[in-house]
Amino acid sequence: MEKKILFSGLTSTGRLTLGNYIGSLNKLLNLQAEKNNEIVIFVANLHALTIPLKREQLIRNVKENLKLYLAIGIDPKITKIYLQSQIKEVNELFYILSTLTTMGQLQRMTQYKDKAKKEANSTFKIPTGILLYPILMAADIILFNPDFVIVGDDQKQHLEFTRDLILRLNNNYDTDIKLVKPKIASIEEGSRIMALKNPTQKMSKSDHNKDNTIFLLDDIKEARRKILGALTDSEDKIYYNLSKKPGISNLLVIYSAIKNIPLSFAEKEFKNLNDYRKFKEIVADTVCDLLTKIQKNYHNLDDDKLQKNLDYNLKYLKNRANKNLDQIKNKIGLLF
Ligand code: TRP
Repeated sequence: MEKKILFSGLTSTGRLTLGNYIGSLNKLLNLQAEKNNEIVIFVANLHALTIPLKREQLIRNVKENLKLYLAIGIDPKITKIYLQSQIKEVNELFYILSTLTTMGQLQRMTQYKDKAKKEANSTFKIPTGILLYPILMAADIILFNPDFVIVGDDQKQHLEFTRDLILRLNNNYDTDIKLVKPKIASIEEGSRIMALKNPTQKMSKSDHNKDNTIFLLDDIKEARRKILGALTDSEDKIYYNLSKKPGISNLLVIYSAIKNIPLSFAEKEFKNLNDYRKFKEIVADTVCDLLTKIQKNYHNLDDDKLQKNLDYNLKYLKNRANKNLDQIKNKIGLLF
């Protein structure tokens, strides 16, 4: 049987959070362990340009993301990794796809609307790149013609957009692109890890309250303090109920995802504990063990090792991208 192709990417906007880990990185690790799929992942440094950065900062972010991929346990001999700007074919496909898209479609995307709202109230001007962001994302995906894309909950709309484009491409030009399916974790599996002090809102790397977010490279003591300070409720009973107990539910999801056990197992484990302080300490231990392990691997990676890992499958991936793009160009009539 032919292997299914799984595809995933991360925008290199700096530090990754526990939410990123649990929502998608952790899932990649499990899929990697199954060994019956072909997995391709990349770091989206072109997408990162929509927020202007100094050269050094852009490079630092990219290296940090790549190193974190490796530090959490992504094995480049099994999972193929590349950097978006290394494979130039994506730009040509990006242009082709832009001709199949309307302005209205792009202006209706949530991410764009959020930024547009911000523009209305300030001197911030939206770069065209933000409007075009979903087309580049579709190009990333279509270039490798995967069966599944693994993303966090916030990328659902971009995946729908990509599926629309695939249908249009196949219809207009008789191409044979697979109608890619999103693989998004359920909420119980951690697709939406919530802010620790404000558990009805998503954990985000840009949160102004630093106690809301755990970064994978956080100081271990800080991370512990943040978990111990998480907002809970006054019932002193530990079970999952998103609307009644968002804080405790969030901690249960974090615990079970890191332990790789079903949520119901975690609930059983804490059923008779009735002590939030103890519960938080156990969750904090689990999170801190994970961060310690990741950080140890992270600090063992130097630039040389990183480069070797990046080169490992580059030629193969470039060939694949080139072949896929040429097939599309041929169907369109750009090659004959
Ligand atoms: N937009 C995604 C994010 O912010 C990153 C991304 C870009 C991506 N292109 C992609 C993810 C293609 C999956 C497939 O996380």
